[in-house]
Amino acid sequence: MRIILMGPPGAGKGTQGERLVEELKIPHISTGDMFRRAMTEGTQLGKKAREYMEKGELVPDEVTIGIVKERLLADDCQTGFMLDGFPRTVPQADALDKLLNEINQELDAVIYIRMPEEDLISRMTGRRVCRQCGATYHSVFAPPKAAGVCDKCQGEVYQREDDKIDTVENRLKVYLKNTQPLIDFYKEKGLLKEIDGNQDMEMVFKDIGRSLGRKW
Ligand code: AP5
Ligand code: MG
Ligand code: ZN
Repeated sequence: MRIILMGPPGAGKGTQGERLVEELKIPHISTGDMFRRAMTEGTQLGKKAREYMEKGELVPDEVTIGIVKERLLADDCQTGFMLDGFPRTVPQADALDKLLNEINQELDAVIYIRMPEEDLISRMTGRRVCRQCGATYHSVFAPPKAAGVCDKCQGEVYQREDDKIDTVENRLKVYLKNTQPLIDFYKEKGLLKEIDGNQDMEMVFKDIGRSLGRKW
């Protein structure tokens, strides 16, 4: 299965994505996670990405498209994948279309997790992430069992630099301007599955399953 997870920052793409890829046995391709990994490793890509991410701006299309293309051509993506946080601009969506055409693959669904803007801020500012395995927590809605320690791998749980309030507001602005137009783009292609993200995590997961014709 080839799917895209879309939605505003903080909507729950990463949270739902972690479970979806387990059920569907496909790789989870999150451009945000790829950039954060590169930043931790201190690579050229990481240094470049940091300049933009810290301000809540988008990393330039040519950089992002480049890393996604390379990733989608890897062996483990040939039977399916889940994209999380890509595409985020019209040029990225066009580039993805072109690539999938070239390699004779088609998208099955675009899952759009809808959330009221006012609830997104607390989702982001309360978010905590494992530095080691990337697992997502929330200081109020989904805290780890022991404060500051990942349940899954015992790694350090920290707050993302771009989850501080100033950056969060800009990320929302950038989303509305650049990414929101893609909703119509995929609606017109008949691929869009709209999911209410403003319910508990279990319900959101069930709704996504239903939209894909699966019962879990
Ligand atoms: P990225 O990492 O993709 O961030 P984002 O899109 O802003 O989305 P988030 O990861 O913030 O939110 P999410 O939807 O995954 O929510 P989560 O599940 O964590 O991108 C970061 C940056 O990288 C960008 O700003 C940009 O600079 C760069 N970048 C990435 N991709 C790019 C691209 N394609 N082009 C250019 N630049 C790019 O949930 C949020 C919180 O809410 C968590 O704490 C979670 O526990 C909690 N939560 C989740 N669901 C629920 C629920 N149902 N009820 C209660 N709490 C919940
Ligand atoms: Mg995420
Ligand atoms: Zn962990």
